[in-house]
Amino acid sequence: MPTLLITGANRGLGLEFVKHYAAAGWRVHACARQPDAPALKAIAGDVRTYKLDATDWAGIATLAQALRGEAIDLLLANAGISGQAAGELGTIEPSVWTQTFLTNALAPVKLAEAFVTHVAESKLRLMIAISSRLGSISLNDGGGRYAYNASKSALNMGWKSLSVDLKGRGITCVVLHPGWVSTDMGGAQAPVTPPQSVAGMTHVIAELKPTDSGKFFNFDGAPLTY
Ligand SMILES: NC(=O)c1ccc[n+]([C@@H]2O[C@H](COP(=O)([O-])OP(=O)(O)OC[C@H]3O[C@@H](n4cnc5c(N)ncnc54)[C@H](OP(=O)(O)O)[C@@H]3O)[C@@H](O)[C@H]2O)c1
Repeated sequence: MPTLLITGANRGLGLEFVKHYAAAGWRVHACARQPDAPALKAIAGDVRTYKLDATDWAGIATLAQALRGEAIDLLLANAGISGQAAGELGTIEPSVWTQTFLTNALAPVKLAEAFVTHVAESKLRLMIAISSRLGSISLNDGGGRYAYNASKSALNMGWKSLSVDLKGRGITCVVLHPGWVSTDMGGAQAPVTPPQSVAGMTHVIAELKPTDSGKFFNFDGAPLTY
């Protein structure tokens, strides 16, 4: 069966992805700052947990080294923060921007960089980043959320460059918008539940072709513009 490596696996969409792929029989390398979270520990199947802060560059390198020789079919950069504190015009706080960019834009690219060989040695060769429609420059009609939106735009650009640079190694790199989802980040009023979002995204992932590399999709499969 294929193998998944995912960040931010202890709650929200990350936890739901682990449930989905573990139930499908995949081996799951579930990375989280809190790998002993009861909800994660309770998931049955071949789930291996690792303590990893997504912005711990040395920790990423150490994990990649520990897993050398292990093919990773699907690398899923999921961990993210909203950066909404001091995110609006008039309240912009450089330290919030820094942490939001480190987590949402740089960490996924560092993860991809560390695991290129593992993914290249797999059968499916997929790298997916959970971005946001809010990172689309062309679709921005709402303004605000400066740090978050800009960090996701930067993520999109990083992933697009990966799609170009890794084409020769047969790796498909795609960014996904999960919808507005009722996680801690999305809030209880969000119209899409985590199971609905993950059902959609995993369907999109299962249908991807190499020619999709570099693209941006909604969780229902609709293409999005950058
Ligand atoms: N929910 C939405 O409506 C929505 C919409 C668009 C995009 N997204 C994106 O979807 C992804 C998942 O979000 P979510 O809704 O599931 O949010 P969430 O419920 O707030 O969960 C965020 C996850 O990211 C982890 N995380 C944050 N910073 C981390 C770090 N430095 N190292 C390791 N893990 C870290 C959290 O771990 P801790 O428990 O340790 O904090 C948690 O597991 C994010 O990239 C988010 O931007 C969500």
